Amino acid sequence: MVNNVTINTDITKGKINKNIYGHFSEHLGRCIYEGIWVGADSTIENTNGIRNDVLFALKNLDIPVLRWPGGCFSDEYHWKDGVGPAEERKRMVNTHWGGVVENNHFGTHEFMMLCEMLECEPYICGNVGSGTVQEMSEWVEYMTFNGESPMANWRQENGQEEPWKLTYFGVGNENWGCGGNMRPEYYADLYRRYQTYVRDYGDNQLFKIAGGPNVDDYNWTEVLMREASKMMDGLSLHYYTIPGDFWKGKGSATEFTEDEWSITMKKALHMDELITRHGTIMDKYDPEKRVGLIIDEWGTWFDVEQGTNPGFLYQQNTIRDALVAGLHFHIFHKHCNRVQMANIAQTVNVLQAMILTEGENILLTPTYHVFEMFKVHQDAELLAIDSEMVSYKGDLPQVSISASKNSEGKIHVSLCNVDHEKDAIIQLQLRGISSTTSNITGRILTSQLMNAYNSFEQPENVKPQVFENFVRQNGHFKVELPPMAVVVLTIDQ
Ligand code: AHR
Repeated sequence: MVNNVTINTDITKGKINKNIYGHFSEHLGRCIYEGIWVGADSTIENTNGIRNDVLFALKNLDIPVLRWPGGCFSDEYHWKDGVGPAEERKRMVNTHWGGVVENNHFGTHEFMMLCEMLECEPYICGNVGSGTVQEMSEWVEYMTFNGESPMANWRQENGQEEPWKLTYFGVGNENWGCGGNMRPEYYADLYRRYQTYVRDYGDNQLFKIAGGPNVDDYNWTEVLMREASKMMDGLSLHYYTIPGDFWKGKGSATEFTEDEWSITMKKALHMDELITRHGTIMDKYDPEKRVGLIIDEWGTWFDVEQGTNPGFLYQQNTIRDALVAGLHFHIFHKHCNRVQMANIAQTVNVLQAMILTEGENILLTPTYHVFEMFKVHQDAELLAIDSEMVSYKGDLPQVSISASKNSEGKIHVSLCNVDHEKDAIIQLQLRGISSTTSNITGRILTSQLMNAYNSFEQPENVKPQVFENFVRQNGHFKVELPPMAVVVLTIDQ
C-alpha cells in the first residue's frame, strides 16, 4: 500500500505566518519560576535572573511570539504588583495553580527582557475577570507611552527609559470559564468596553485579541463575531488533545495503550474540524479574513506525573507528543489564511513542554525537536498538495504532509507517519521542478517504542537523526518512513 503525493511547487496557497510557531508561558507550576526565572543570585548560570541553559535552547527555536502571564493566571494578575524594586513587590497566592506564594519577582520588566533576549514579540494577556478597565488601560500606557504621563514616568523610575514595542494584547482569557464564567453576550459587551481604553500610543499599534471559544462552543464565536468583530484583530480558540476524560482521568503521558495512541492522533486531528467550523462562522462576519484566529492554547494534556503537585500540570513528553505537534502544524498551515498565531501550552515544565528542568539539569523533549525541525516553515509560502493516503485505523490518514517554499526558493516537506506499527511508503511527485537535478536531504525524529521519552538520565533518547530513506525512481521520489516518525525534507532546486 502506497501513499501517493504530488506537491505542486508552482502553486502557493498563502503565507505560513511564523507566529503559529508561538509559545505560551504562564505563572503556573514550574514554568516561569525554576523553568525560566531563577533570579540573579541563583547558583544556576543565568543572565539577569533568566537561566542560560533554557535561554540558549529556546533561542535555537526562533520563537516568534511569547504569550504571558496566563492563562487563568492572567485574570487574577494585577500588573502593578510586579513592577518596582523586587524586594518590595507584593506577595500573593496563586489560587488557581497550586495555591503557592507568588512573589512577583518576574513581572513586566523581566518578561520584556526575556522577549528581547529571545528576539521574539511579546503577547500580553490582560485581566478582565478580576481587573478594572483602568488597570488594563494603565498597563498599556505603562508599557507603550512615549513622553510624559503618570505611567510612563513610573516606568522610567523603574529603569525603562524607552517604551517597549508591544503589538499583541489579549483582552482576557477563557472568560467563559476561569476568566469570569461569563456568557458570550456579557463578555462581548465587556470586550467592547475594555478594548476602548487599550490605546495605541505614538506609533505603537496594538493587535487586539478577544477571548474566544472553548473547543466547539460555536455559539460563543457567533456572538463575539456578531457583536464585536469590528473592534478586534484576533479571536482566540483553545483546544487541548486529551486522550481520556478531562475530569475522570486524562491518561498517562508515558504509560498508554495502542488504542490510546490512535485516539490521541484522532483527537489531535480534530483541530482541523474546529478551525474549519469556527472559521466558517468568522467568514460570515469577516469574509476578508481580517480577524485572525489565534489558537493561543493547544497541546496535549495528560495526568500529572506521579508525586508532583496536581496544580502544577507537569507531564513527560514522548514521541506521541512529537506526532501531535507535527499534526497541529500541518493543520495550522492548511488554514494559514485564517490562523495567524498559535501558542503551545506551555514552554517549560507545564503540559506539552519543550524543556523539562530538575534543579540545574534540563532536557529537550521530542516536542522541542519538532519545533526545531519545523522552523524552516516560518513565513514560507504554503504549497498546494494533491494526495491519496493509505488509511490507518480505518478513518485516519496514515501520513500527514505539508510543504512550503521559502524566500530563497528552497522547498521543505514535513511528513508524519502516525501509524504505530507499519512503515509508510510514499510516492512523492514534485510537480514543477526537476527531480533529477534537485538536491534532497532529510532529518527524522522517531523511536522504536511508542512511549519513548527523554529522561534526565537519558536526555538524548529521542532526538533528530539524518534521514536518507528516499530514492529517485522514474521522475519521482520513493520515501519510506518508519512507524511513528516525523520527517523534514529539504529540496534545493
Ligand atoms: O494551560 C493551562 C490552562 O489551561 C490555562 O491557564 C487556561 O487558560 C486553560 O484552561
